[in-house]
Amino acid sequence: MANDKLILRALAGETLDTPPIWMMRQAGRYLPEYRATRAEAGDFLSLCYNSDLAAEVTLQPIRRYGFDAAILFADILLIPDALGADLWFVTGEGPRLSTITEQADFDKLKPADAIHDHLAPIYGTVAKLADELPKETTLIGFAGAPWTVATYMIAGRGTPDQGPAHALKAENRPLFKAVMERIEAATVEYLSAQIEAGAEVVKLFDSWAGSLKGADFDEFALEPAKRIIAEMKARHPGVPVIAFPREAGEKYVGFSKATGADCVALDNSVDAEWAAANVQVDGCVQGNLKSSHMVTGGQDLIDETGAICRAFSKGPHIFNLGHGITPDADPENVQLMIDTGRNGAWKG
Ligand code: CP3
Repeated sequence: MANDKLILRALAGETLDTPPIWMMRQAGRYLPEYRATRAEAGDFLSLCYNSDLAAEVTLQPIRRYGFDAAILFADILLIPDALGADLWFVTGEGPRLSTITEQADFDKLKPADAIHDHLAPIYGTVAKLADELPKETTLIGFAGAPWTVATYMIAGRGTPDQGPAHALKAENRPLFKAVMERIEAATVEYLSAQIEAGAEVVKLFDSWAGSLKGADFDEFALEPAKRIIAEMKARHPGVPVIAFPREAGEKYVGFSKATGADCVALDNSVDAEWAAANVQVDGCVQGNLKSSHMVTGGQDLIDETGAICRAFSKGPHIFNLGHGITPDADPENVQLMIDTGRNGAWKG
C-alpha cells in the first residue's frame, strides 16, 4: 500500500518515531559509482537524457544506503533546454545558456506545451524507476521554480546575486514577466508528465528565492508556487508537493499555508528550534543539516543530526540536508548520518 511509505506518511502530516531520510544531490560526484556512470555517458547532459543511465545513477544511493526516497536524476535547466534555449555545462564551472536581454530572445522560445518530445527521455527515466525501486522507497520528481530558472535563462549562467534577472525585472518588466509565465506554464506541464509517468511526490526548487525581498518575494516566489501547486492539485489530487524557497528567512513563516505546499524544505541558515515553532506548526518540514558535515563527519555530525531530529520530533519531519551534498563529501559520513537519524539514540 502506498501509504506504508514513510515519506508519504510524513507528508500526510504524521509524526513518526524517527524521521524518514533522503538527501539533496544524493546521486552525485561524491560517489565513485556515479563518476563511473557519468564517464560512460560522456557528459552530464547526455547522462540526464539517457533513461537507462539516469535511472541507474538514481538507484545507486538507494542500493548503497537504502534512503527512504529516490529523486529523479535530471536538472532544473532541462526546461530552458526544452524551450529551445542553448544549454551546455563547462566542467568545473557550471551551466551556460543563451541569454535573454530583449524581446527577440524571448520570441525564439517554444510554447510551454511543446516541451514534451524533448523531455520524453526524462519521463522514460521516471517510468523505469517506478518499476524498479524497492516498494518502500518513494519516487520524487522535481522542477525549478520560475524565478530560479529565470535567473539562469536571463543571465546565461549562475550568478552570485542574480543581478541580470533583477536588472531585467527593473528595466523591462513586461519581458521579465513573460519569461516567468512561460517557465511557469512549462513547469506545470513537466511536473504533470512526471506524475503521469510514476512520480509520487514533486518538489519545486527555488534556490535563489532568498534574493527576492518584500513584495518581490510574494509576486515572484510565493505567488508562482501557489499557482503551480493549485494547478497540480487540480490535475493530480493527492500527490504531495514539497516547496524549497531557499534562504526565505522570515518568509518561511506561513509559506506552506499560503501556497498549499504539503512540506517546506528548510535551508541551513534556519535554526531548527525556531523552524519547529514557526514553520512546522503548519505541517511537514524537511531539512536542515549543513552539507559541510558530510565532509567533516565525526562527533559534530552525530550531535547536529541528533539536535535536528530532536527539534522536529514533535511533528511531521523528513530529515535532509539544507542544500545539496558537495563532491568532496565522504560517503562514510552519509552512512553515519543515516545511522544516527534512524537509531534514535538522539532521543536521549
Ligand atoms: O538531487 C538529486 O540528486 C537529483 C538531481 C539534481 C541535479 N540538479 C543533478 C546535478 C537536482 C534536483 C538538481 C537541481 C538543480 N540544478 C538546482 C536546484 C537545487 C540547488 O542545488 O540549488 C540548480 C540550481 C541546478 C542547476 C545546476 N546544475 C548547477 C548550477 C550545476 C553546476 C553546479 C554543480 O554542482 O556542479 C548543475 C550540475 C548538476 N546537477 C550536477 C548534478 C549531479 C553536477 C554535474 C556533474 O556531474 O558534473
